[in-house]
Parts: sequence; structure tokens; C-alpha cells
Amino acid sequence: MADSGNSMRNLERHLEQWLIAYGSDLAIPAGTAVPRAEPEPREAVPATTAEPAAEQHVEIPTITRAQPATNAPRPSSDSQVEEPAQANQSHTVTSLRALRAEVLACTKCKLHSGRQNAVFGEGDPTARVMFIGEAPGASEDESGRPFVGPAGQLLDRILEAAMGLRRPEVFIANLNKCWPSSNRAPDAEEVAACLPYLEQQIQLVQPEVLVCLGRTAAQNLLGSTESLASMRIQDHFYNGVPVIVTWHPAYLLREPSKKRETWDDIKRVNQLLGRPEVPPPKR
Ligand code: URA
Repeated sequence: MADSGNSMRNLERHLEQWLIAYGSDLAIPAGTAVPRAEPEPREAVPATTAEPAAEQHVEIPTITRAQPATNAPRPSSDSQVEEPAQANQSHTVTSLRALRAEVLACTKCKLHSGRQNAVFGEGDPTARVMFIGEAPGASEDESGRPFVGPAGQLLDRILEAAMGLRRPEVFIANLNKCWPSSNRAPDAEEVAACLPYLEQQIQLVQPEVLVCLGRTAAQNLLGSTESLASMRIQDHFYNGVPVIVTWHPAYLLREPSKKRETWDDIKRVNQLLGRPEVPPPKR
């Protein structure tokens, strides 16, 4: 009884955190304390405080695996076991750096001519989960980093509230690496030119779960023409890796009623990773 009381309180505290992160427009169970909603995210990072160019900032970070894989055998302290793992990790980092250099110099489609920066992606090179968006927007083009505008600020809050993770603990990539100016979706030719880069990123990082943010990423990665609403309620795999399809954070900014479904989708990601369905509350 005491246990179920505690878990109910934990759940309520989580819902509070979720509401703080997402705004108060969700259906709120009776008896739940409702915190004041945060204002909508500010417009993109102002030019004066924008991150310096990609070359300095999309560096593959130090190799630290944030969460050990739950089912995979853990390396013991025996150095014979650890050495190959380290060798694999450094191979991953070296290969990601080489791939990043290729992306930054890419001229395979017309998008290269209008870009300030190609946006390779960033995060833990051995992340257990990879988030995949559509393409950089104006803020990302300017900074060379993925998801730094309003949609990215919401993504950060989703990561924190629903997974208890920060962006360096996951890998964030896009289907297309260059900004299709005026924020249109990339066309078929642009996707075909860029998709192999994403495929190589997945192959190198080897995430245990992929999360497609929005229809364009999901349709192109999974070779589907279905709507997002129908894709998000189906099971998908990409080369044997489970794929969760959910609403794009930019869409959530316009259509906040979909945040509840996103919460459910992220709970499935947590389940697949063997993590608590909702992260323990912060003290
Ligand atoms: N939208 C995306 O799909 N990707 C970004 O990096 C930013 C906005």
C-alpha cells in the first residue's frame, strides 16, 4: 500500500515536471497539482549569443557511454575485455569525424549552395538512442548545430522531462544536413543525396532505439508513404533496430494537444531501453 502511494506521488511529481516542460495544455488527472506553465520557447538563439561556427561546436564529444546497455554483457574490469571495446569506440569516433568532414564539404545536391553550415549532428558517439529530425532550420544553418531553435529547445525539455537525459547523452541527427531555405521539406532528390550520411551515422553509433521526429524523417528512413498518425501506432524496425515514430517538436509547438501522445511515445523509448517509464524526479 505504502509502495503504491509512493509510486502515485512519483507519478504526480513527474506529471508536474512534464507540465512544466510542456505547458499546461494537457489533460490533467484530478488531484494533480498544476504548476504555472512556462512561456513558449523564445525565438532562435540570438545572433549575438549564437554558438560559434560548426567547426568548433559539432566536435564529437569525449567518449562516455551515458547508460550501459541493459541486455548486453558488460565488459568486466579485465583489460583483455576492455581493450577491444575502447578500440571499437575510438574507431567510431574516428569514422564519425571523417564522415562529418565529408558532410561539411558535401556538394551532392543543390542545398549546398545556399547553406552557411552543413549540420552533421551531435551527441554521444555511442548513444543508446538516436533522434532523427527532418533538416536544419535557419538557426541550425547559422550555428551548425542540430535543433537549437525553438523546436530544439522543446526537444531538450522532452529529453529532460520524459527521459531524464541531456542532449550530450543521446545522438541528434537529421535526415538532411543542409537547410532547405524558407523551411520547406527537402525534395526527393535532396533526400536521396543525403540519406546515405544518416545511414552511416546509424551504422557507426549503433543506437538501440531510433526515434523519428516527424513524418519526413519517418517516411524516408522506413520507406513508407503513410501518415505520421498511422506510422506512430505501428511497430517499425530499421535493420533490426526498433524505430519509434513521433510528432516533430516544431509541430508540437503549433499543435500542443499532441504532446500527450509524444509523452506516450517517449515512454515506449524508455521501455525499449530498459529505463524507468518515467525518470525518477529530480531532488
Ligand atoms: N527541425 C529539424 O527537423 N531539425 C533541426 O535540426 C531543427 C529543426
